[in-house]
Amino acid sequence: MTDTPPPFRPKVAVYAGSFDPFTHGHADIMRRSLAFADRVVVAVANNINKKPLFTAEERVAFIAESIGTESRIEVRAFNGLLVNLARELGATMLVRGLRAVSDFEFEYQMALLNRHLHPGLETVFMVPSNDTTYISSSMVREVARFGGDIGALVHPTVARALAERFASGPV
Ligand code: PNS
Repeated sequence: MTDTPPPFRPKVAVYAGSFDPFTHGHADIMRRSLAFADRVVVAVANNINKKPLFTAEERVAFIAESIGTESRIEVRAFNGLLVNLARELGATMLVRGLRAVSDFEFEYQMALLNRHLHPGLETVFMVPSNDTTYISSSMVREVARFGGDIGALVHPTVARALAERFASGPV
């Protein structure tokens, strides 16, 4: 009698954030996470406290452009607790990008809180590429608001949307 091999269980990682807007730094982390996950779900937080510049639908559409034809990555919006989404998806990992030491305190607290809420869930911190590590959504918004060139920092679709949003001056 031969042993039946255990069924293949894809490793699912969730890469959640506000992504307002999605930058080349986010895209770098998203793609790097395929090194240890079979499926990556980019999760756009809908109910963030901050008032976003772009709606969740717009942010999802920008990320979909960035994903292109990569079938191992998908994007969706979510409401409520991230751990509940992770449970729903059968995810075992949360991916977060760490750019600088200043990110660490909040990230550490969030990782511990999420593990408290869902003990089977591990947070994996990833370091972005050298050329994207300085990019943040808030700085991209700020530069675009005052007409600066953000062409090298975000996908062309995002750059166009930012230009349109601020076409009549800073809002
Ligand atoms: O890009 P951000 O704003 O740093 O992402 C933060 C985010 C969206 C991942 C975090 O606020 C979140 O998970 N929100 C969903 C609500 C939740 O689960 N809160 C508990 C963990 S802080």
